Amino acid sequence: MSTKKTYYITTPIYYPSDNLHIGHAYTTVAADCMARFKRMQGYDVFYLTGTDEHGQKIERAAQEKGLMPGPYVDGIVKNIRHLWEQLLITNNDFIRTTETRHKDVVQKIFQKVFDQGDIYISNYEGWYCTPCETFFTQRQLQDEKCPDCGREVELLQEESYFFNMSKYADRLLQHIEEHEDFIQPESRRNEVINFIKSGLEDLCVSRTTFNWGIQVPFNQKHIVYVWFDALINYITAVGYASDEEMFQNYWPADVHLIAKDILRFHTIIWPIILMAIDIPLPKKVFGHGWILLEGGKMSKSKGNVVDPLILKDKYGVDAVRYSLLKELSYGQDGIYSEEMMVNRINSDLANDLGNLISRSIAMIDRYFDGVLPEPGPHEDTDEDLKNTAREVFEGATEKLDKLDFTNYLQNCWRLISRANKYIDETEPWLLAKEEGRKKRLAAVLYNLAESIRIILLMTAPTMPTLAARANEQIEIFTDVERMNWMEAGMWGLTPAGIKTQKGPSLFPRIDPASLDIEYAGEDAPEVSKTQGDEAGRQTAEITFEEFARLDLRVAEVISCEKIKKTDKLLKVQVKIGEEERTLVAGIAVYYQPDDLVGKKVVLVANLKPTKLRGVLSQGMILAASDENGTMMEVLTLESEIPPGSRIK
Ligand code: MSP
Repeated sequence: MSTKKTYYITTPIYYPSDNLHIGHAYTTVAADCMARFKRMQGYDVFYLTGTDEHGQKIERAAQEKGLMPGPYVDGIVKNIRHLWEQLLITNNDFIRTTETRHKDVVQKIFQKVFDQGDIYISNYEGWYCTPCETFFTQRQLQDEKCPDCGREVELLQEESYFFNMSKYADRLLQHIEEHEDFIQPESRRNEVINFIKSGLEDLCVSRTTFNWGIQVPFNQKHIVYVWFDALINYITAVGYASDEEMFQNYWPADVHLIAKDILRFHTIIWPIILMAIDIPLPKKVFGHGWILLEGGKMSKSKGNVVDPLILKDKYGVDAVRYSLLKELSYGQDGIYSEEMMVNRINSDLANDLGNLISRSIAMIDRYFDGVLPEPGPHEDTDEDLKNTAREVFEGATEKLDKLDFTNYLQNCWRLISRANKYIDETEPWLLAKEEGRKKRLAAVLYNLAESIRIILLMTAPTMPTLAARANEQIEIFTDVERMNWMEAGMWGLTPAGIKTQKGPSLFPRIDPASLDIEYAGEDAPEVSKTQGDEAGRQTAEITFEEFARLDLRVAEVISCEKIKKTDKLLKVQVKIGEEERTLVAGIAVYYQPDDLVGKKVVLVANLKPTKLRGVLSQGMILAASDENGTMMEVLTLESEIPPGSRIK
């Protein structure tokens, strides 16, 4: 039994019906970030991922390729393992539901629940969605299609075993109501409560019309319903019914990290299975939002999936992990495009973080021959930098504990911005010119190195190779494999005397014009679309200074035309004072080109220019859109106010 505090985190076990995309990579990277963070805090972490290999969906995918399901999934599972290695995922186990260790547990549990009378045989008549592996009643269908994914459903009439879920509904409701943390974020919790209150039907937990699954132990005609089988993986892997000591050590899981699509399985079916076998429930199920492409959800059938391996090869593992985690605000959906990823890499990683490190190292090289000096006399700005570091550490810890990755990173960037500002305030290049200020110069450079140490520690769970790469240029850490999170909360741990040596750029800038991305029709980028508009949207607070960095201007539209071969993009020519600019706006679905000419709109004038479909867009027009993107209205001004006027 471990004497350390344990932390058990899981991802969904993915269907190996096809190779995985960045949506799956998001969950796995997010869970990896948590696993690394908790290890840095000294926890005994068990991080589980794996594959959900049974069911009709897999059987059909194999058939389409002319293969038996076994060899078919073996090939995909190999690719999945390779993907996780490339993304530096530190899972402690990889469970496959086709393994004997898992089959045994599923059969034992099925038998136990049957023996105690919670599973009974009857006839099933209803609808089945194979892509979702989900049963629906006629009433639940929407326009005769699957209410979850909108695809065709099939009528099933089979003799089946049923799981008496309704028996446990009240106990489950009580558990959810008494344990605020059980379903997170909050909005998802309410959704589940309402669903249970509307009445739970018994669940059909066996199938007879195909073979690819685990046999019901006492009736060989039946195979176990794939979700009943799959959910049990979370206890198989930590030794349920095989290694009591391990099971006691890690169960209940601290977090099942999933996306909202499979929330009900995890917060209704899974807890009820656990209640039926008298096992404690997991401490938390966290349902994050979806990564969407401009044309909607990523799916193989739409042909719009994004391969994480290609991105990793192009931009490096740190940058890909960072941009994924930054993209989805707490619990919300977020829109992904490669342009957005590149812009993020250029602004956050190359400009803010990369520059801070390279400028600091260059100054230590130049002014102190590549040896970090002893800290010298303190001034007020130093205190402010130190205080920011402390606050950021506390904020980052708190946000990570809530699985709020965006705001954790936002916190880290507060310190990066503060340290960059500190360079501007202290003007080391001027201090270097005055012999009598050498000690002050030493203090400034020491404080910068110290800020860098703290930043590298706090970003390590997200960007696992950064500290080692930076260490080649400034030897802050004696062992980058053993970084301690708590040390990010302390000031003054960087040893004076360490060597610096300027090396290659940690995050080379990517020329957006070099991007050669082919968007298929609807996937063209919408420049001004807001992200994640779900009700109750929470975005991070910003200070007035941060708001003031936005240069919002009144701009008059002087001409407007559709961009060829796109459905959504308009090329808009605007006037701000005497200046004319070109912008690309993703509003063609809502506006005819002539609708806007002569209108005064609100322009974000200091947005970094970016090239879209070969047109350099120099700013962004503000527009409001509803939750589903069915309505959009460009913000306009009616008065005589002249173009170029500042909006604040
Ligand atoms: N096999 C089931 C899970 C069983 S768990 C006991 C399954 N597999 S899946 O391959 O479809 O994976 C779904 C999960 O993949 C989502 O819950 C989420 O974690 C991740 N994602 C897949 N697409 C995604 C996005 N577009 N965006 C974010 N996450 C996504 O369901």
